[in-house]
Amino acid sequence: MIKRPKIAIVGAGGNVGAAVSQWAVQKELGDLVLIDIKPDPAKGRGLDLAQCGPWEGFNAHNFVASDKAEAMEGADIVVMTAGVPRKPGQSREELININAGIVKGICVDVKKYAPDAILIVVSNPLDAMVFVAKQVTGFPRERVIGSAGVLDSARFRTNLAIAAGVSVEDVQAIVLGAHTDKDMVPVTSTAMIGNVPVGKFLSAEQLTEVVENTKKGGATLTGLIGTSAWLAPGAGTCLMVEAIVRNQGRILPCSVELNGEFGVKGAFVGVPVKLTAKGAESVHEFELSAAEKEAFGKSVAANTELMNIARGFLG
Ligand code: LAC
Repeated sequence: MIKRPKIAIVGAGGNVGAAVSQWAVQKELGDLVLIDIKPDPAKGRGLDLAQCGPWEGFNAHNFVASDKAEAMEGADIVVMTAGVPRKPGQSREELININAGIVKGICVDVKKYAPDAILIVVSNPLDAMVFVAKQVTGFPRERVIGSAGVLDSARFRTNLAIAAGVSVEDVQAIVLGAHTDKDMVPVTSTAMIGNVPVGKFLSAEQLTEVVENTKKGGATLTGLIGTSAWLAPGAGTCLMVEAIVRNQGRILPCSVELNGEFGVKGAFVGVPVKLTAKGAESVHEFELSAAEKEAFGKSVAANTELMNIARGFLG
């Protein structure tokens, strides 16, 4: 029998989980299992979504909603959005003390119930949580992938498009490194608009402003909304799910363990990754400018610091 992909979303009662569910249903990516520590919100999110079907033209009333980890049994993909979100004025790094324990507990269940799954981590502080997930599951690096670069790059592309007054569709640009306000690396040296270098559209000052706005993009939204963003984080994460279930071979920035790529071993930061049915099939290196190389190094150092804190929760 040909099976539809089984996609378990953990933390589905929350905003990011709900957004991932929505895009996944609209794109008909598979059968959803909505898991949350609170079963009623997960069920409510599922019902709300199912009731969009008559107008949006999809049939998604056979979702499973549960607070039981067993519900993820045999999942092809597990999307981990569980954990507390940022509050205004709070950094992602400050969430580590609460979220490391939550992510660890769920990863024990992922290993038990979905040992062949590809695990996409969305919980913050992102790169350190990917590390926790990798350590706890023991999955190969291909199957433990962090979602952040897709979001930061979407913010970067949007900010570039607005500054240059062009369509975002024609902006090609990537954010590498850590998913932290201070240390992420929006790469301007290779950014293009319609195959023309961005420097032909924007002055150095304008580019600096775009980079700074991109880095604090999550904090800006948290300040405006009162909690962290969910639509763009959900859309980016779902793009990764789609690339995997449809075996697309897309090259997207994702956080994975580096095994010597970009001169780094054993740290987890965002790099260009080829996403296929195998997960993060390969990492693709390219030349950064001297300033970007330095910023990338700082990103790795910041991640190493957070990994050391996270180690304390692995015990
Ligand atoms: C953000 C959070 C979700 O950047 O990390 O919006």
